[in-house]
Amino acid sequence: MDERRCGKSVCSSSEGRLTSFGLFCVVFFTLAGAAAGFNLATIPFDEGYSPLFGDGNLVRSPDGRAVRLLLDRFTGSGFISSSLYHHGFFSANIKLPSDYTAGICVAFYTSNGDVFEKSHDELDFEFLGNVEGKPWRFQTNLYGNGSTSRGREERYRLWFDPTKQFHRYSILWTSDTIIFYIDEVPIREVVRSDEMGGDFPSKPMSLYATIWDASSWATNGGKYKVNYKFAPFVAEFKDLVLEGCPVNPIQEVPAAEACAEKDAVLKGEDYAVITPERRSAMRKFRQRYMYYSYCYDTLRYPVPPPECVIIPSEKKRFKETGRLKFGGSHRRQSRRRSRTPVTTVSDDQSDM
Ligand SMILES: *[C@@H]1O[C@H](CO)[C@@H](O)[C@H](O)[C@H]1NC(C)=O
Repeated sequence: MDERRCGKSVCSSSEGRLTSFGLFCVVFFTLAGAAAGFNLATIPFDEGYSPLFGDGNLVRSPDGRAVRLLLDRFTGSGFISSSLYHHGFFSANIKLPSDYTAGICVAFYTSNGDVFEKSHDELDFEFLGNVEGKPWRFQTNLYGNGSTSRGREERYRLWFDPTKQFHRYSILWTSDTIIFYIDEVPIREVVRSDEMGGDFPSKPMSLYATIWDASSWATNGGKYKVNYKFAPFVAEFKDLVLEGCPVNPIQEVPAAEACAEKDAVLKGEDYAVITPERRSAMRKFRQRYMYYSYCYDTLRYPVPPPECVIIPSEKKRFKETGRLKFGGSHRRQSRRRSRTPVTTVSDDQSDM
């Protein structure tokens, strides 16, 4: 448990019973208690990254260790790592824009789309804003060797309000596994299998962070647009971590060879190991907060892609569209039955 983040004085209820905020804290503890924080070396912005677009809307902190990305009616903004990496751990503490954020997409991802146009690799965190009073959602996804016709999206709610505090979002990519983390909770693991072939990302990638107007799809399928009355929208990034093997994508020594040693180092790091406690936290997260999985979308994939781990008890909760069978009513029920805390959500089913 981390007393600093959710101490007793904050979480205990004066009436001595669990309020909804108390319930929030219970889950927060359960998930956050999975591990002590990773031991990470952070770097100043200019040491690892450069502006990508909307330079005027990229604002560095005075000490150069944090950066704000703004979206206003003229442009969004973004940054990119100055190198490509062949495997790595990409991580940042991020705080998302608050209040009315419908139509906004904040993305934290790795890609090599500008180097390998037809055969690109990609690993994504994509955060989608919402109308006031409704929570942000996010999805993770991956592509390998241009597998853009085979999306591997999973969509989730969060167990906290990402606009109130910074939380760490991380992507680990080694030669045999991909792990998406929020704080120290692994939320998704993709283990490479031979059957995946080139769909498992295998070429050097850059890290990207962007904020942009995704009015046409981000919120309820485009029903709610960005409302610039509330601009500028600000996403903050700090405590940046770039661990990996920087390479020149067209160098002569193949990257896999040149980077074998660093790949082995990455595999030995704390964050490369999903301990039983972390695995249990991952299972809880996925049970409570995942509301779409391509693995259960049998309309789209009659045969689930090879990396899918089908968990029968989990599968039962999803329709053949890969979406949850029960929307709000299920969550109200589960709250009564198992005291599963809920944030205010009513239309998980209808967006994206
Ligand atoms: C990637 O795709 C190209 C065709 O675009 C193919 O020639 C190559 O063998 C693929 N690589 C892998 C690792 O599957």
